[in-house]
Amino acid sequence: MELALYAPGLGYYSGGAAKFGAAGDFVTAPEISPLFGRSLARQVVQVLQICGGDVLEAGAGSGRLACDLLNELATLGCLPQHYYILEVSADLRERQRATILQQAPHMLARVQWLDRLPESFTGCVVGNEVLDAMPVNVVHWTQDVVFERGVAWADNTFMWHDQAISSGRLFDAARALDVPGGYVSEINLAAGAFIKSLARCLQCGALVLIDYGFGEREYYHPQRNRGTLMCHYRHRAHDDPFYFPGLQDITAHVDFTAIAVAGIEAGLHLAGYTSQAQFLINCGITDLLAQTPASDAGTYLPQASALQKLMSPAEMGELFKVIALCKGMDTALLGFVQGDQQRKL
Ligand SMILES: C[S@@+](CC[C@H](N)C(=O)[O-])C[C@H]1O[C@@H](n2cnc3c(N)ncnc32)[C@H](O)[C@@H]1O
Repeated sequence: MELALYAPGLGYYSGGAAKFGAAGDFVTAPEISPLFGRSLARQVVQVLQICGGDVLEAGAGSGRLACDLLNELATLGCLPQHYYILEVSADLRERQRATILQQAPHMLARVQWLDRLPESFTGCVVGNEVLDAMPVNVVHWTQDVVFERGVAWADNTFMWHDQAISSGRLFDAARALDVPGGYVSEINLAAGAFIKSLARCLQCGALVLIDYGFGEREYYHPQRNRGTLMCHYRHRAHDDPFYFPGLQDITAHVDFTAIAVAGIEAGLHLAGYTSQAQFLINCGITDLLAQTPASDAGTYLPQASALQKLMSPAEMGELFKVIALCKGMDTALLGFVQGDQQRKL
């Protein structure tokens, strides 16, 4: 998965494919509407007002969210000195620079691309759909043995190749899960390690991460016995990761319990976990929409339809979650003040 997505020049995220939006393979929330980033900006402002510091965006895709956040932070009078972007793909870094140059040229001087996390960081870390894009390990549990699924090449094609494991981090994580024999699912060691690295460098502030997934009980539910590995190619979703390697997206849902545990083990506290719909409502997305008069149908209707996509339980509102992990601040976070603030993890 790591090679198929990130091999320099060849991987899905490192090659030149369109990826995002109508001409690509999938659509993310910032590509659907600037209302997403404008709402998230209100949460960022609260963190910056408490801790000060900067913004760090992980996995910035096309750069749309960076533009929406920076423009809204300026409107709200809370522009940070620096907007850092941590991005693994050199191709996407170039695309991000071009988007910012086009949509927020006066902000470019504040944006700095990072090759690695800084030693220390104060402020707000944001990441939309970055955890689901990290390479997972696929595990196959039988009654007695735990196998890691590898990939083999035979008869001119890729195929799964199981190898028994009996020690190591993956084995320990797999053993800790209560799943029936014959079960196949994913464990995302990379995402846990990423959260721990962020926690180590965070002095005061919050990580606010948005992605699709569930808590552990739902993720490893006995009926979800084929896991969540998914591929996207030209707006069609399927489950064959060996189809067009490097040309299609491969992703897995996020186990938010594992994310919370990784953060807590590294000294953060869980400040909130809720659905994307509830988070956006708490951040005032409906008030932002209301700034456009409904009588101006040509402007209002596309915005209302985008909001529907972001919020509807049948679309992104319920499957997508927002988790916040904090250090050095204990104020209730805006995005979680109302509703199911601490869903079960
Ligand atoms: C599914 S895209 C989401 C892009 C964007 N946030 C959006 O919502 O449109 C995943 C992004 O995360 C980046 N990425 C994946 N793993 C990363 C890592 N370990 N560190 C930083 N960026 C990463 C990818 O290159 C890509 O920009």
